[in-house]
Order: sequence, then structure tokens, then C-alpha cells
Amino acid sequence: MATHLYTASSLDGFLATTDHSLDWLLRQSIDENGPMHYSAFIKGIGALAMGASTYEWILAHDDGPWPYTQPTWVFTHRELPVAAGADIRFVRGDVRPVHAAMTAAAGDDDLWVVGGGELAGQFADVGLLDEVWVQYAPVTLGAGAPLLPRTLDLELVEAARNRDFLCGRYRVLRS
Ligand SMILES: NC(=O)c1ccc[n+]([C@@H]2O[C@H](COP(=O)([O-])OP(=O)(O)OC[C@H]3O[C@@H](n4cnc5c(N)ncnc54)[C@H](OP(=O)(O)O)[C@@H]3O)[C@@H](O)[C@H]2O)c1
Repeated sequence: MATHLYTASSLDGFLATTDHSLDWLLRQSIDENGPMHYSAFIKGIGALAMGASTYEWILAHDDGPWPYTQPTWVFTHRELPVAAGADIRFVRGDVRPVHAAMTAAAGDDDLWVVGGGELAGQFADVGLLDEVWVQYAPVTLGAGAPLLPRTLDLELVEAARNRDFLCGRYRVLRS
């Protein structure tokens, strides 16, 4: 079992613009059957964690049903609506008990920290982030929501091109 940050990023390391726009990302081309695509990644995932901004973005922009069948832990200090048909658990504070609950729910499957980067950093801070998968879009944003605002050493274990994206899979090294 491993815990992954799997995300797209601008070339200069931002997950979204300062006003949480993903327009720069959604206009890019990617092959769903190509290397390191989400459709293969999600098959091995048994539980998700995300921060409030990421959750609110999905609520605001995803017109269809809630996109995940897996239980999802949403970190927030606020009362947020529950998406219809979603298995959502709102949590706050220390990521360690949440990681334990996610692990219990996921069985033999892996865990996905959807974002943002600061939340992924909280998992890394306590040694609970194993891999970072990044699809780099050919865009620089100059500012925005950071990819992973921590000082970490990583090992590149896989690299590929998927149409517009430079895809890297990294293992988090621990000292
Ligand atoms: N490019 C991609 O593929 C991709 C992937 C994921 C996300 N995104 C986007 O990137 C942006 C990320 O936004 P973001 O940087 O603001 O990160 P975020 O993690 O989505 O949201 C941050 C918020 O999560 C809550 N939070 C985080 N840690 C917490 C903790 N330990 N306890 C309680 N609450 C906690 C806080 O919300 P409150 O205190 O306000 O409740 C905090 O302000 C979003 O726009 C998202 O849509 C893009």
C-alpha cells in the first residue's frame, strides 16, 4: 500500500491560478490510453484525501455526478455541503489518524492525496507520502496554488510524454 500525490501542474509548479482556475490545464490534450494517465491510476486507489479548495472546485465545476466511488476525506475547518452520491468524511487537523482510517478503508489498494500541495506536504511531514506523480502542462502561471511547498528529495522512477504533458513519477526519499 502506498500514498500518492497524483496531479497536473504548470511547468513552474502550480496546481491552479491564484483564483483557482484550471482553464490553462483543461485546454491541453492528453491521451486517456496513454502513459501514466489518470484512468489507469485510479483503478488502484481505495481512498482519497483532499483539501477544501479542491473539494469546492469539484463541486462548482463538475456538472455530472460525484466522480469518485472511493471514500473521500475532505480537510476543512468549515461546514461544507456533501456532494450528492458521494462518500465524504469531513476532517481537520492531524493527517495521521485520517491516514490510518483511509488505510483501513482502502484494503489492499493505494491512497490518493488529490491536493492541494500544502495538504500533501502535511502527509510528507509525518512520513506518509510515498510517491508524487506530476503531469506537467506546457504553461507557466507565475503564481498560484503550489504543487508541494516542502523541501524533499525525490527519486525519478518513471517518465513519459503524454501528448501535451511531460509526466513524471517520483518516489519520496526519506533521510
Ligand atoms: N492541477 C491539478 O490537477 C489539481 C489537483 C488538485 C487540486 N487542484 C486545484 O489546486 C487548488 C488547491 O487549492 P489549495 O492550495 O487552497 O489547497 P487545498 O488543499 O485544496 O485547500 C486548502 C484548504 O484545505 C483546508 N485544510 C488543509 N489542511 C487542513 C487541515 N489539516 N485541517 C483542516 N483543514 C485543512 C483549509 O480549508 P479551510 O480552513 O478553509 O476549511 C485550507 O484552506 C484548487 O484550486 C484545486 O482545484 C488542481
